[in-house]
Amino acid sequence: MAEHEIETIVERRESIAGIPTLELDDAAGEVVIIDQTRLPGEVVLEHLRTREEAFRAIQRLEVRGAPAIGVFAAMALYLDARHWLEAHPTAASEDVWERLLETRAYLDSSRPTAVNLSWATRRMLTAVATDPTCSACTPLDPELMVDGLAREARAIRDEDVASCRAIGEHGLSLIADGFGVLTHCNAGRLCAVEYGTATAPIYLAKEHGMALRAYCDETRPLLQGARLTALELMAAGVDTTLLCDHMSNSLMATGAVDAIFVGADRIAANGDTANKIGTSMLALAAAEHGVPFYVCAPTSTFDATCATGADIPIEMRDPAEVTELHYAKRMAPAGVKVYNPAFDVTPARNIAAIVTEKGVLRPPFERSIAQALGIPTR
Ligand code: MRU
Repeated sequence: MAEHEIETIVERRESIAGIPTLELDDAAGEVVIIDQTRLPGEVVLEHLRTREEAFRAIQRLEVRGAPAIGVFAAMALYLDARHWLEAHPTAASEDVWERLLETRAYLDSSRPTAVNLSWATRRMLTAVATDPTCSACTPLDPELMVDGLAREARAIRDEDVASCRAIGEHGLSLIADGFGVLTHCNAGRLCAVEYGTATAPIYLAKEHGMALRAYCDETRPLLQGARLTALELMAAGVDTTLLCDHMSNSLMATGAVDAIFVGADRIAANGDTANKIGTSMLALAAAEHGVPFYVCAPTSTFDATCATGADIPIEMRDPAEVTELHYAKRMAPAGVKVYNPAFDVTPARNIAAIVTEKGVLRPPFERSIAQALGIPTR
């Protein structure tokens, strides 16, 4: 479908307080998201029905962050199958399966780095798979397939909430009252259903009455730290300070930072971690200052098929994000060559621990990750 044919319904609200990052409205047959490209200036809710709308929302970062795009893609896959079956009521289960395969490939191609996306869509298909190569298998009835997809999408959503809360609980063991905690990009509740990953220990600490100081890197070029993390932490009443990305080294030199918590888009079997561009530099500065550098992620972010970070695909984005997007006037000469990777890989040697819903994983990560995933060590 061409972009001009997409007519997303939008709704405006006063603040993000109490509004879920994303929500399945089963009665309306829609996923409702906060359009994160409009934050912090305005709170606009989008009601998405089609796979084309879902694809565009992921690609434009209206919904973003590894866990959130996984949950969102699961919901979008379910809704697409449901609406397709409504439009093709005589379709056989093999036809629904074909449509599912096609929509999965389409959604998976929207962004390459966060593995949670393809993890969630694969899980959706597995939930309703009747082995197409098995002639003795009875195909599920199409309606039952759609019901199964709805159930699985809700399960993925609920597990995301539980995982983030568990990450927060495990992360609490790494902080103490009065700590200064630095974070990069947005690995907050806007990147998940609730709590976030890197911010989960901060939210849990607040629930426990601890007073933390949170520092947010602005996160050039898309400013997720300034626009999103600062917004959501302040809305939650957390003592929040914003800094430019290149100021974190000087902040650490003052002794203000006791720990760094970041999220992850994909973690290789050896612990190398892809996360928002700039994360690897932060880890280098942290090593220099002896500040512990923690990665927080659900186990759905691990990709055992990547032996090291070199196997992780890194998304390259539009040069205009660097030269003009967040400026009132263009701030770079027209035609300048631009290097704009969305993510970088932090080597496992610079990571003190990976906090998951299953516990705090310590080096050597080959062993602790394999144990957490229940697979043999490479
Ligand atoms: O490009 P984005 O905004 O989707 O990048 C997000 C990040 O890099 C997050 O830190 C990562 O997805 C982890 S979110 C728990």
